[in-house]
Amino acid sequence: MELFVATNNQHKISEISAILERHGIKYRIPKKDELPEVEETGKDLTENAILKAKAGYRFSGLPTMADDTGLEVGYLDGAPGVYSARFAGKHCSYADNNKKLLKLLEDVEFEKRKARFRTVIALVLGDGRNLTVEGSVEGYIIDEPRGSNGFGYDPVFYYPPLDKTLAELSSEEKNRISHRANALVELDQLLKKGVL
Ligand code: IMP
Repeated sequence: MELFVATNNQHKISEISAILERHGIKYRIPKKDELPEVEETGKDLTENAILKAKAGYRFSGLPTMADDTGLEVGYLDGAPGVYSARFAGKHCSYADNNKKLLKLLEDVEFEKRKARFRTVIALVLGDGRNLTVEGSVEGYIIDEPRGSNGFGYDPVFYYPPLDKTLAELSSEEKNRISHRANALVELDQLLKKGVL
């Protein structure tokens, strides 16, 4: 059975594809920008992941997974969280978001800049069952962007065990330790239990 991956985000597609292949999970991805955009009106990551997976199921007719991710910064009481994509405004760029984040943390000492990426993956099976799994990674927001791999907040998210930002990691490294990789390990466990 194939799993449909409901996202138009090419960065997510390349990460999710690599990790699903590592786990031997068969999947299908949409053609570029083929999926209708889903308004993320949920109150949290779980609601948004389910909204996106349901829309993907309606589109594909296949069991569908969708990921919703947020960056949670302790000093900012968990912001940007569910608003991570549009932190600096409706049509803002990744660079705009990073700039706003660094401004809010200006002069805040390193120890207080703890942060966590959290990914919720929803699996909509089409028979009324909507399952969710979660993964996270912990680190710190540094005071200027470093590295050019990855996307989003990766250049400002420092991961102490490898002494690098996520944007300084190779894709193989990020796909071993990331919030998304950890959530996909949980998804793999669920699939191994035979939920499909
Ligand atoms: P989404 O709503 O799940 O698409 O993600 C919200 C925002 O979080 C994106 O626009 C990115 O800025 C950021 N984001 C999601 N995943 C990652 C990641 O793996 N690294 C860095 N930023 C990410």
